Amino acid sequence: GQANIGLIGLGTMGAALALNIAEKGFPIAVWNRTTSVTQAFHAGAGALAARIVPTETLAALVSAIAAPRTIILMVPAGPAVDQQLEALAPYLGPDDLVVDAGNANFHDTNRRTAAGLPFRFVGIGVSGGEEGARHGPAIMVGGAAEDWQRLSPVLQAIAARTEDGTPCADWMGPAGAGHFVKAVHNGIEYADMQMIAETYGVMRDGMGLASEAIGQIFARWNEGTLRSYLVEISAAVALARDPVAGGPLLDMIVDAAGQKGTGRWTAIEAQNLAAPIPVIEAAVMARNVSARRAERAIGEALFGAAPQRLDGVLTADDLEQALIAGKILCYAQGFAMMTAAGAEFGWALDMPAIARVWRAGCIIRSAMLNDMANALSEDPARNLILAPFFADHLRHCLPALRRVVAAGAQNGLALPALASGLAWFDMMRTARGTANMIQGQRDYFGLHGFQRLDGIDRPHGPWAAGASA
Ligand code: 6PG
Repeated sequence: GQANIGLIGLGTMGAALALNIAEKGFPIAVWNRTTSVTQAFHAGAGALAARIVPTETLAALVSAIAAPRTIILMVPAGPAVDQQLEALAPYLGPDDLVVDAGNANFHDTNRRTAAGLPFRFVGIGVSGGEEGARHGPAIMVGGAAEDWQRLSPVLQAIAARTEDGTPCADWMGPAGAGHFVKAVHNGIEYADMQMIAETYGVMRDGMGLASEAIGQIFARWNEGTLRSYLVEISAAVALARDPVAGGPLLDMIVDAAGQKGTGRWTAIEAQNLAAPIPVIEAAVMARNVSARRAERAIGEALFGAAPQRLDGVLTADDLEQALIAGKILCYAQGFAMMTAAGAEFGWALDMPAIARVWRAGCIIRSAMLNDMANALSEDPARNLILAPFFADHLRHCLPALRRVVAAGAQNGLALPALASGLAWFDMMRTARGTANMIQGQRDYFGLHGFQRLDGIDRPHGPWAAGASA
């Protein structure tokens, strides 16, 4: 074989990744189920075509690659991956390595790793959309450490780099660890997007600002603490003109969010882990509610429309501060969930390394991740809100978050992610909570017992038969 790597699946992401790999100097053999797609890809590869070997059968793909082979799979997550692994089995030996680079559910990656495939297998999370895949994604690798050693030259070559030149490709842990970290990334992606959308809603419906003005405010935020890819593109989205009807394009886009499921997986897994991630859960919930457009229209007709104007109540600066606070709370929850997962699955997930890998290339890349990496380096298991740097930040931003959430509640503007972040924060800063009532109730109806503050061993209330004896 003339290539040292192969790639299966020339959809948007696969094609971009193949070009990236070729551009970094690695000859690559490619195969797609539909041969015309492979041919069109090769014909459109320009100068890089010389480093790309198009193949028409799986057998041809495999023999175009020098052993031991590395083959990257970029096919839709789910059954298509299992089918492809099965189809490859007759062609590959125990030293060949198949890399699932799609958005697999990490439980599937765990299962595939344990299944005893006749070749080596790793699952990697790749973030950054098409642009990232083409010019530098963030890459979260799961699998055997020796396979990471083998893959690191190509993955670090194609990955995004931070300002200091560090490649954003790293080993997260065994088996499904890479896809798990990618799922949490996507949960945070949903939450960041939702919180930005909530501030957009306050500006649009509460302050009566037009999309252009909102876009300019986002663009300003992108110059400060909130500097991030998602705030940057939100500015661009709000500022874009509608090529069909003129006016702001944003005003013409249907308000029903799609989703492919990765955010939902994160919320489900958080429940399995008993890890509180309310901001992410709220973001998933909000997408689900957004999809119920007809019902929402009936609701508006029944309960009355639009919120009152908030003129003079909130400023754009309040919203900026609230978003900073919400973001810190959301990431604190996400990292705490990964800490819980590491303990549960026996993975030594490296929190600072995860924050570092997210600094460039991925959808949630932001200036704040640098500070998070630093804070997590001080004490990886400590909740981020308890790190001095972020505690200071929160003391500063929390009053604005309260003002924004209160104004939303008063005026009928839904802020599920920001509000649930605040509620979680207020629980986290309350030493004497209210679950003593829950425990009393549980004991009352189910004799589940409780512990007393004074340590005396009297686990039942006087409502229990024989409890006072
Ligand atoms: C990324 C993204 C990407 C994801 C899309 C769509 O990191 O590049 O997370 O992997 O598939 O953003 O996600 P939804 O369709 O669920 O919004």
